[in-house]
Amino acid sequence: MKTIKLAVIPGDGIGKEVMPHALRVLDTVADIHGGIKFSKEEYPWSCEYYLEHGEMMPKDGLDQLSDSDAVFLSAVGNPNLVEDHISLWGLLIKIRRGFEQSLNIRHAKQIRGINPPIVNANNFDIIVVRENSEGEYSEAGGRIHSGDDEIVVQNAVFTRKATERAMRYAFKLAKQRRNKVTSATKSNGIVYSMPFWDEVFKDVSIDFPEVEASSAHIDALSAFFVTRPAEFDVVVASNLFGDILTDISAAVMGSIGIGPAANLNVNGKFPSMFEPVHGSAPDIVGKGIANPIGQIWTGKMMLDHFGEHEIADKLLEIIEEVTEEGIKTPDIGGTASTEDVTNAIISKLKEL
Ligand code: NAI
Ligand code: MG
Repeated sequence: MKTIKLAVIPGDGIGKEVMPHALRVLDTVADIHGGIKFSKEEYPWSCEYYLEHGEMMPKDGLDQLSDSDAVFLSAVGNPNLVEDHISLWGLLIKIRRGFEQSLNIRHAKQIRGINPPIVNANNFDIIVVRENSEGEYSEAGGRIHSGDDEIVVQNAVFTRKATERAMRYAFKLAKQRRNKVTSATKSNGIVYSMPFWDEVFKDVSIDFPEVEASSAHIDALSAFFVTRPAEFDVVVASNLFGDILTDISAAVMGSIGIGPAANLNVNGKFPSMFEPVHGSAPDIVGKGIANPIGQIWTGKMMLDHFGEHEIADKLLEIIEEVTEEGIKTPDIGGTASTEDVTNAIISKLKEL
């Protein structure tokens, strides 16, 4: 029996609503599997915790999480209580940076029973591998002078190590999928970093001759995600480009409430973190209608991370059967509650 030790952070708003349901699904998965078990340690770190303690998590918060196999997080943020930059940087970003989670992986595909807001969806299935540690989101730069003389410098930082790491991951992933990697570039406009990005992409692609490698400029690529998403398999992108592309890919699925994501630590020194794309949705909190699919699909990515591909694939298949049968929350056009959707997923799992 393999025990997977989860550090669970429900966070704020609907995070607290969808997390217990996703955990119920994971426990059912473990029962069916027979060879895995989840042990869970829950942490109350959230905006309410901040109001009481003056910090989003304790000083030794990362230490407390560090002996888990993975962090399973829902959503953090309650702008009525705490400013977003405080809640985000005090918890999420601290974990991502502190645990060297250098890759952000987001999966987006057409889900049966959910109408995507685009015409040529054609069963698209895209995974974006986003470099998560540097690039455009660097703290290198500064501001001097003021008024008319003000100067602002914001540097983008690209290292060969991190660039190559993201690209190698993308190629390896493509080999388990449809053998296609597209690199998001902008070497026609950004004259140092992006030609470098293209060079590294070319170098790495040589090691994967069986994978079809191509590049597309980020502006055109963003449009293609909307007009012909089915042409893409794995897309590798810098931090900013990946951030934007994954909002588009989540949007073309039909609801932000279903998108899953993983922040991967690839050096094995710290746990990885799994969290859905959506936030804490203050506008629907307490109504029992939050879509649990984002959190559950994120659990599926976590199962993949631990090598449990077979049951992970079955779980996604079941999610689609449930939406296809019309058991859907209002954000995707249904009338079901968070609990209805979860119960339907669990009863199908039990039929396996
Ligand atoms: P949001 O994702 O919370 O909500 C955007 C819209 O999508 C809302 O209309 C909401 O009702 C809907 N929505 C989101 N998830 C849903 C779900 N599972 N089921 C049904 N509908 C869903 O983004 P927003 O409103 O910009 O941010 C709210 C708070 O969440 C802020 O404090 C923000 O900082 C935080 N946030 C946290 C994230 C995280 O923890 N990774 C990511 C995004 C936002
Ligand atoms: Mg974003």
